[in-house]
Amino acid sequence: MANQWRGVIREYYDRLNWSDSDPVVTLGEGGTPLIDAPALATLLDVGEVYLKFEGMNPTGSFKDRGMTTAVSRALGRGAKAVVAASTGNTSAAAAAYATKAGMQSVVLVPSGKIAYGKLSQAIAHKAQILQVKGNFDDCLRIARELDEKYPVFLVNSVNPDRLQGQKTASFEIVDVLGKQPDLHAMPLGNAGNISAYHLGYTEEIKEGRISKFPKLWGVQAEGAAPFIKGAPVQKPETIATAIRIGNPASWDLAQQAKKETEGNFAFASDKELLWMHRFLSQECGVFVEPSSAAGAAGLLKHKKLGDLPKVDTVVITVTGHGLKDPDWALKDEKGRKIRPKRVNANAASVASSLGLEKS
Ligand code: F0G
Repeated sequence: MANQWRGVIREYYDRLNWSDSDPVVTLGEGGTPLIDAPALATLLDVGEVYLKFEGMNPTGSFKDRGMTTAVSRALGRGAKAVVAASTGNTSAAAAAYATKAGMQSVVLVPSGKIAYGKLSQAIAHKAQILQVKGNFDDCLRIARELDEKYPVFLVNSVNPDRLQGQKTASFEIVDVLGKQPDLHAMPLGNAGNISAYHLGYTEEIKEGRISKFPKLWGVQAEGAAPFIKGAPVQKPETIATAIRIGNPASWDLAQQAKKETEGNFAFASDKELLWMHRFLSQECGVFVEPSSAAGAAGLLKHKKLGDLPKVDTVVITVTGHGLKDPDWALKDEKGRKIRPKRVNANAASVASSLGLEKS
């Protein structure tokens, strides 16, 4: 196993303050690729764009980075069960890591509003899954109360152990680029991830590995954009169910991230998200779930408005894999279902459907 990536705790042992007696629950998360996307650089009219493809984590989203640390710490403190509120990805990660640790997981999801792939993951990893008649914000309120009053351990990103694991994505970016990007964009929901990247870059500066912050941009869905409105949104609505959040828990940390890095909050409509979702798969070869297209969609919006800062190196975190929520790829830009043509089982029939002439 000497040459295998060892997961973020073992790879960044010292920087996570781990000691030999602390348990490590890992599925080999982290070490995700930074993929160059020249088509997107052309579209945005910037020097270079890299996609940090977090869909390559074991459960298909960035949540695994924080779940390895949160579940490991929970195990170290003697927890028997973990609880998480989730729009889907956290539930998948909590279920998988709890299983690896030999613990029970309890996940609360908004009824009818989580993508099929994510639901199947939570069920596959034998989570006790409850669909709450409410939205994500209701689920989180209940999960926090359960953590306070019952013998279950909260593993949402309000648990600081989560951000510790998630900050390693900043380390990896600096490790690979050998510098900080000028601008770094990502989707913004409950605001854990932007806070974790900010923490990671802050530590990189303290260690002297970089000298300044990238501008951190958090991009919300238009119908679920409390950071744009400047106040919680009571009834968040968007097709990007992962970021359908009206009352982000890490509000202050995200504000601080924006301020200290001279970053920005932006938003994109569902139509813009789906357009970018298609662009990333069709022009960049990277298949993500619709919410994960938010970072790039927000930058494109500002490029069109003419106020995208003049920057050279851009990193965009694409947070979750397209297979999580594949239905969107099966629709065209007008929302019509795409059905591959049926042909007879012979070469002539296939060639004629393809419009091929004999050579
Ligand atoms: N992208 C994806 C794919 C997500 O699942 C989430 C959040 C985000 C972006 C936003 O990140 O909340 O740290 O600002 N998903 C959570 C969940 C809420 O329950 O899976 P954030």
